[in-house]
Amino acid sequence: MKGGGYYSQRTRGAKDVIDNASEMLVEAADAIDLPDKGRAIVLADFGAADGGTSESALRKCIERVRMRFSDAQIQISYTDLPSNDFSALFKNLLGFGSLTANTYLTDIENVYVNACGIGFHKQLLPDASLDIGFSATAMHYISEKPGPIENHVHMVGASSNTLTAYAAQAQKNWNDLLLARANELRPNGQLVMLNFGIDEEGRYLGHTGGVNMFDTFANLWTQMRDEGVISSDEFINTAFPQYYRTVEEFCAPFKNEDSLVYQAGLRLISARTGVVKCPYRKAYDESDGTMSAREFAQSYIPTLRSWSEAVFLNGLDDARPLEQRHLIVDDFYKRYEDRVASDPDGHAMDYVHCYLAVRKIADQS
Ligand SMILES: C[S@@+](CC[C@H](N)C(=O)[O-])C[C@H]1O[C@@H](n2cnc3c(N)ncnc32)[C@H](O)[C@@H]1O
Repeated sequence: MKGGGYYSQRTRGAKDVIDNASEMLVEAADAIDLPDKGRAIVLADFGAADGGTSESALRKCIERVRMRFSDAQIQISYTDLPSNDFSALFKNLLGFGSLTANTYLTDIENVYVNACGIGFHKQLLPDASLDIGFSATAMHYISEKPGPIENHVHMVGASSNTLTAYAAQAQKNWNDLLLARANELRPNGQLVMLNFGIDEEGRYLGHTGGVNMFDTFANLWTQMRDEGVISSDEFINTAFPQYYRTVEEFCAPFKNEDSLVYQAGLRLISARTGVVKCPYRKAYDESDGTMSAREFAQSYIPTLRSWSEAVFLNGLDDARPLEQRHLIVDDFYKRYEDRVASDPDGHAMDYVHCYLAVRKIADQS
């Protein structure tokens, strides 16, 4: 993600997704067991970015935990990749980042935070130490790309063999990360996971009936290749390390009693899909013509850029000076902005998620 607090400032939709699902965290807080004497209640946010989007939902969860266990110390572990801007995260939590001055950390006593910069496909916390694991809009990232994607930049536009390879990688990663969480969870601990995916109607991020966002990315990148702005190798080198799972793919390890995940004691409490409307599109539609198409484009493109820019930058040849790579990527997003400004119809990044609640059973015998 783009650092320096840019992520939370430009990602209102991701915060809406979490805020709308905050009741799931409160329900998880209602379900966990009394901590053993002298032991803290441990919460973790897996793939937290700068922590800004989850702060208010975690506050609700912490308040409920505190209501149930008034003396308990509460620890929140934030995890993300080593490249994450953890400095922005701590500034946000201390109230002197780009967000609000009051956070759960500034307002609630006996709450402790720490961070881990290791990917969530591995176990990150000691066995049976985690009470509530949370993750939003992060577990669609796969640990490695199984290969290039012909004529596209995302698996949603991949052809059969490539798609099969991405699906296999995603299945392995899903099993690995669930097994890691199974080890970390205490008996009766809970997982709340809000994951990008493909819903029952085939919808996914930026593809809910209007202009397909990932096709637009691919189309503009192709245009730049055909004009010679980027090379064919750079085009091929550009692919999102992501996979959007279907509900069936999310639920498969919980439904098969022989799966390692099931054997490790994880049980599905609920799974549902939901669409959260693009807030930038909504503001434009509700502006009754006071917002111009250009103003809409200028408000909309930064939210795409906040999470996609690194993929296009990394696709470019290292031999190019860094400044040149940035200019190419600026050009790419300017083309996207111009396209939206010239014909805004159908452009929106609606969020499509699969909302999963999972518990670790207390007794596997
Ligand atoms: C779109 S952001 C979501 C951030 C935040 N959870 C939210 O919902 O607004 C995805 C985050 O997942 C992180 N991420 C990607 N792969 C990861 C991995 N293997 N382990 C941990 N975090 C990962 C990214 O670095 C990024 O911060």
